[in-house]
Amino acid sequence: KKIKIQVPATVANLVCGFDILGMAIHEPYDEMELKLLDSPEIIIRHTDHFGLPEEPSKNVAGVVLLNIQQHLKLTTGFEVIIHKHIKPGSGLGSSAASAAGAALGANILLGNILSDEEMVHFAMYGEELASGVRHADNIAPCIYGGITLVKSSSPIDIIPLNTPDLFVTAVHPQVEVKTSDARQILKKNILLKDAVEQWGNIAGLVAGILKNDIPLMGRSLNDVLIEPVRSILIPQFNEIKTKSLQAGALGGGISGSGPSIFMLAEKKETAESIARLMKSAYNEIDIESFVYVSKIN
Ligand code: HSE
Repeated sequence: KKIKIQVPATVANLVCGFDILGMAIHEPYDEMELKLLDSPEIIIRHTDHFGLPEEPSKNVAGVVLLNIQQHLKLTTGFEVIIHKHIKPGSGLGSSAASAAGAALGANILLGNILSDEEMVHFAMYGEELASGVRHADNIAPCIYGGITLVKSSSPIDIIPLNTPDLFVTAVHPQVEVKTSDARQILKKNILLKDAVEQWGNIAGLVAGILKNDIPLMGRSLNDVLIEPVRSILIPQFNEIKTKSLQAGALGGGISGSGPSIFMLAEKKETAESIARLMKSAYNEIDIESFVYVSKIN
């Protein structure tokens, strides 16, 4: 039995929702072909040139499958061919796509024996390998679709919220920001007044998403804790954010731990003009960039 699946990019850390709110987008996406093998081996192959490891214990999809195999005491194995289009290190959930895709694909091949929570559980082994942290904010929207709230990742408690009809423009500048570095620089202690502002924004954003109240979503898309620290690692961040808001963006911020930046917009024309201004902001300083105009998936 052989299947082919598409696994979406995700934007996690929906601005104020650090480590808890994420969304799936239509583009870019990875394609994965999975096959059940009679012998208990795991074979991983890539068709791209990103140079990702293929040894199962060092590969994000591989560790997910090894854990599924071990936990379910399977005597069968898996062969996986990954056509990666979500660039590794972009902040657009590349590792989450491989991890979630492995869990989703294995579950289909095994006859849908895993619950969504169990798939999240197994896929988190991939995130742990990639970034050292078992976070589910990219994996959850990859598996559930739309915008998800990770109320808790241990025990796993995921709340699928909604899929607002909004455009997402994302730019991936060719600079390196390591997730581990971008986590290291965060403050360990925060002021109560900042915490109050942040949870007001998170609550407002979740309420806005559930009520489909777009102005409320826009007013709540502010991050007073993480963005001021991390944005220093991303060239042109302030310029792009200011110009996007002037062009009519609802709001936006850093995608994942960066370096990608994303903006939400109600209209396609707004999303496209944001794409142009993002591209020219990086052209100005001779940094190559990739821009995506997409929708919440
Ligand atoms: N929530 C994580 C972070 C996503 O911001 O560090 C990184 O993949």
